[in-house]
Amino acid sequence: MDRLVIEGGHPLVGRVRVSGAKNATLPLMCATLLGSGRSHLRNVPDLRDVRTMGKLLGVLGARVDAKGDELFIDTVGAEGVEAPYDLVKTMRASVVCLGPLVAKRGQARVSLPGGCAIGERPIDQHLKGLSAMGAKIELTGGYVVASAKRLKGADITMDLVTVTGTENLMMAAVLAKGTTTLRNAAREPEVMDLARALNAAGARISGVGTATIVIKGVDEMGPLDHAVMADRIEAGTYMVAAGITRGELTIAEAPLEHLTAVVGKLKEAGLRFQQTPKGVVVSARRAPRPVHVITGPYPGFPTDMQAQIMALMALSTGSSVIQETIFENRLMHTSELRRLGASIEVTGSTAVVKGARRLHGAPVMATDLRASACLVLAALAAEGTTYIGRVYHLDRGYERIDQKLIAAGASIHREPEPKAQG
Ligand code: EPZ
Repeated sequence: MDRLVIEGGHPLVGRVRVSGAKNATLPLMCATLLGSGRSHLRNVPDLRDVRTMGKLLGVLGARVDAKGDELFIDTVGAEGVEAPYDLVKTMRASVVCLGPLVAKRGQARVSLPGGCAIGERPIDQHLKGLSAMGAKIELTGGYVVASAKRLKGADITMDLVTVTGTENLMMAAVLAKGTTTLRNAAREPEVMDLARALNAAGARISGVGTATIVIKGVDEMGPLDHAVMADRIEAGTYMVAAGITRGELTIAEAPLEHLTAVVGKLKEAGLRFQQTPKGVVVSARRAPRPVHVITGPYPGFPTDMQAQIMALMALSTGSSVIQETIFENRLMHTSELRRLGASIEVTGSTAVVKGARRLHGAPVMATDLRASACLVLAALAAEGTTYIGRVYHLDRGYERIDQKLIAAGASIHREPEPKAQG
């Protein structure tokens, strides 16, 4: 396993370019299963999770070719219906192949994803919706076994807002007989990007971006031909990097229209934003002001940016309150931030972060994707050297983050983790 070695204290100055969105790419790859043809995805990020999803599609019979930031996925003749545990356990997003498989092939055998570091993360809403559309659902041996001759349209009200739940059911409904209404649907931009690609390939989806999505079933779908939207969470992470190092970063391709809650909070904290033809310039000259953050479904403050803004608040001029409302266990990065000198009190899912004048480098360990990003951000500002272990978490969701940061003046290198002593 590798670790990142970061020497802090260098203000980031320069330009970074945002890659395609991981959380749009993964469902888009599964959406190719709805058609029988050769789909073409562009602006695809070079991520571990994308490669894992490519392997899963291969197991399902598709032929996947990557050429730079383009993916070609040929599903002609693909008949596989099983998403195996050894793949699903490494990437929960595999579960979004369930809807397309049942819709297109009439059956699916998908390993239950199991919980993960940030929470139990059940898929009951996915299964409730598929049952409502007439699928027979069984749970056997850690697998969801779903089957339906042909799904039928249904009026489904989800008990809670779920991003991949909305995506799974929207994709299943595309080939169902009749009309499906999804109520209390997720409004995330990644859901909208998926719907845009599906409609361009023959689907009839409306209402995306609102809480009520209507899908008129069609008999068949063509291949996808779509450019993936920019990654709003990657963009937000680099905005914090500019602020925490008191530098000045030009962030190209940042989807500002999908970052209003994040930009609003960062402006409250004192970061400066300037739109230029080359991208948005984000800068800070002094310590950030404290803010109060409550995460929520889009367009609220994204839970995927909670750890990153906590790193910034660890160096603020006062006390901040950060409430995590989406996942029951997404504050584990606080213990690692404390090792760097942060002062954070956690009660339930609320963290009170008392700004410190400085942080100090130390060995820390990443526990999940966004926690690792938070530790990189804190390390960039800390005095001295920080060692971040288990950096594979980072590679799941950030394309070449070390190279992008080095190009903006960070002192980072990657090396194998030393063998444990004794
Ligand atoms: C998506 O996960 C994202 N992943 C997550 O990003 C993101 O944090 C999350 O949405 C929230 O925005 C992808 O899009 C691949 P949910 P998802 O279903 O769909 C509960 C990252 O860092 N729930 O919206 O799995 C669930 O436990 C990742 O890029 C049920 O109870 O999240 C959670 O508490 C992490 N039953 C809440 O709802 C269900 O059937 C929201 O989960 C489904 C969800």
